[in-house]
Amino acid sequence: MWFIYGPPTPNPFGRDQEIDTLVRFMKNGQPVSLIGPRRIGKTSILLASLNKSSLPFVLISVEEFVRGEKGFNLAEFVSAYISNVTTTAYSFAGFKFQFVEKTKSYLKQIRELLGAIKVTLNVPELTALIEVILDKAQRNKNLSEELSRMLDLPQILAEKLGIQRMVIALDEFQYLKLAKQTSPEIFHIMRSKWQFHKNVTYVISGSATGMLKEIINTKTQPFYQFFYLMRVNPFDKEKSKEFLKKGFEIEGVNVNDNEVEEIVSYVDGFPAWLNLVGIKIVVERKPVNVILNSLPYDENVINAIEGDLRKLSPSARSVLRKLAYLGGKGRPKDLGNNIWAVNRALAQLIRYGYVEKEERGIYKILDPMIVHYFAERKI
Ligand SMILES: Nc1ncnc2c1ncn2[C@@H]1O[C@H](COP(=O)(O)OP(=O)(O)O)[C@@H](O)[C@H]1O
Ligand SMILES: [Mg+2]
Repeated sequence: MWFIYGPPTPNPFGRDQEIDTLVRFMKNGQPVSLIGPRRIGKTSILLASLNKSSLPFVLISVEEFVRGEKGFNLAEFVSAYISNVTTTAYSFAGFKFQFVEKTKSYLKQIRELLGAIKVTLNVPELTALIEVILDKAQRNKNLSEELSRMLDLPQILAEKLGIQRMVIALDEFQYLKLAKQTSPEIFHIMRSKWQFHKNVTYVISGSATGMLKEIINTKTQPFYQFFYLMRVNPFDKEKSKEFLKKGFEIEGVNVNDNEVEEIVSYVDGFPAWLNLVGIKIVVERKPVNVILNSLPYDENVINAIEGDLRKLSPSARSVLRKLAYLGGKGRPKDLGNNIWAVNRALAQLIRYGYVEKEERGIYKILDPMIVHYFAERKI
């Protein structure tokens, strides 16, 4: 099927330029940060580039280790890092690991790994490090001390195994901020290690665009001017139309140019929504305007948007709603009487990547579906 909703795609449409650039950076050791709102296609570009590069790579979604509102499971993250880096490096060098237990727990994985490494190879740094981590993690101890040594692992393995270049990609990187509670110096340690890794390229990406920019673009922050920033934009009009037309042609549904135009202006080039509309038209075979009108009530849309909104404070949510009522764009003075509270809410919306400040004090909601979702429920 042409249209797929939900998981990232390893074959993103119309992103050849982004992929070529990213592959070039990966091969040359240029650290990159992909930045753009949710569902714009960052992970897909990342996946496609990693595959196309033919380099050994590790892709970890940091979001996986977030626990509740503000918690972060550093022990699991550290274990996942070691487990992934080690298996990738060793398989690239020709050794194969078969995990007995295909389990979610990375701690269990590295326990198995330790056994295998001890049997097949002699890398004392690695085995010692893994032993300490296993021990500490079992006793629920803080792992920040091991963090620093763990971060050198990719470079050490690359040197030991003769790997010219390896890529470490950390998706939704901004969530590592939550690990600061247990390991306040985490970004500082990362930067100080990463900058000396000759054989490793680091790629990060994130949806909370404001938060990510704070981490990598603030003078006082350790990652200031370390990454090359690559912004991922929505498809332009032409690309959106081409994507839809091709899909409808392949699926054998008749949708005329005006209707395609209507869809594109409704979802504004967001690949996730183009896919969802495409699927609904193919499956439900109803007129385009009927499908579009029902979209804010679609279970998939509700799930996605409400899942996003849950992360926001009530006042940020209310400011977002008011901005949606204004058509998705507005000035602070139109968003509430208490200007201080409005600005605070806008700051949160920017941090989480829902809103961006345009010129002349105008704020804009990035995802058109959020605008439709609220507008349909206007009370
Ligand atoms: N270039 C593209 N062509 C087709 N589908 C895409 C493209 N980019 C993203 N998608 C789809 O949109 C959805 C969101 O993409 P994803 O890469 O997960 O975005 P992000 O990581 O920015 O949140 C996925 O279902 C994905 O398959
Ligand atoms: Mg993603």
